[in-house]
Amino acid sequence: MLVLGIETSCDETAAAVVEADAMPGVPVGRIRSNAIYAQLQEHRPFGGIVPEIAARAHLERIDGMVARALADAGVSFADLDGVAATAGPGLIGGVIVGVMTAKAIALAHDKPLIAVNHLEGHALTARLVEPVGFPFLLLLVSGGHCQLLAVEGVGRYVRLGTTIDDAVGEAFDKTAKLLGLGFPGGPAIERAARDGDAVAFDLPRPLWRKPGCDFSFSGLKTAVRLLAQRLPRGDVRAVANLAASFQRTIGDILVDRCAHAFGLFRQTCHPAGEGPLTLVVAGGVAANQHLRARLAELAAVHDARLVAPPPALCTDNAAMIAWAGIERLRLGLVDGLDAAPRPRWPLDPAARAVIGRTGVGAGVKV
Ligand code: KG4
Ligand code: ZN
Repeated sequence: MLVLGIETSCDETAAAVVEADAMPGVPVGRIRSNAIYAQLQEHRPFGGIVPEIAARAHLERIDGMVARALADAGVSFADLDGVAATAGPGLIGGVIVGVMTAKAIALAHDKPLIAVNHLEGHALTARLVEPVGFPFLLLLVSGGHCQLLAVEGVGRYVRLGTTIDDAVGEAFDKTAKLLGLGFPGGPAIERAARDGDAVAFDLPRPLWRKPGCDFSFSGLKTAVRLLAQRLPRGDVRAVANLAASFQRTIGDILVDRCAHAFGLFRQTCHPAGEGPLTLVVAGGVAANQHLRARLAELAAVHDARLVAPPPALCTDNAAMIAWAGIERLRLGLVDGLDAAPRPRWPLDPAARAVIGRTGVGAGVKV
């Protein structure tokens, strides 16, 4: 089974071809091509992503990226079994570009269309690269989201916790901006932190050790802002120390919340005796090596297995969309040409199984 994936929901214009066995099950996929254009130069002058500029850049690049993905894979439209595109959530201008491109290809070449939830793309990436069975516990950490979910199957998600204010990637990006480290912030913080002292600053850890597994980052962000304002200008050492302390604090928060989620997951979806639990970390922030190491330590303590996709598959890409397309196509989950692009699209529409959470943010931000 061969599927073309298209990703345009944020600032990456991407197309990829992924191949897999047609039978549903655990076997992994094979990435035949993975073309990506990161719109860095378009957005860098603004220190963040400008939705209108992103939409225009997607429009200019998408046909070329699709052509490149097919050429790199050595296939033509006729060889495809389906066309998958991110249909949300995301910046709506970009999502429309991707969905319309996929619809045009599906219609012109008489192929099934799969409208993929971007978050499901992140969620299922682990299964593209490693045999990972259902259910698994998912920590989804990206620029727009920060959630803990029980993944029971394709399209079957139970949210255990979510952020009540900012997404964790947003906290990285804003901190990098405050420290003058540039855009995109996550990799810049990680680089700066390498030379820093991770215990130089004692930063707040909102909701740490509180019941449930919701997240909060706004208090941490404010503390970083107040400290950053007081740092002597051009003090590279202090900037590195603050970056390292921030990154360590994020690690403390994620580890604490995941530890709570292990308990909830065991109670709700993974009764004792079903073998070791799998924790999957996904989304752009999962590319961070310090955080991966911290989560690996936690998994070891809980006798669990950590699966973290290679960093290039953690940040936005189209291979994950093609793979989610394959997972859905194998189950007959295809969409009509009337599939609508959606700026918001929670993975768990009913936001069910809200057990043991703080209650503050129930279902607010998805
Ligand atoms: O998943 P993604 O590429 O796009 C969204 O769906 O949001 O995630 C982007 C986010 C950005 O906030 C970026 O700063 C963060 O992931 N990120 C990182 C790293 N690489 C990307 N954060 C921390 N460390 C990294 N190495
Ligand atoms: Zn993403």
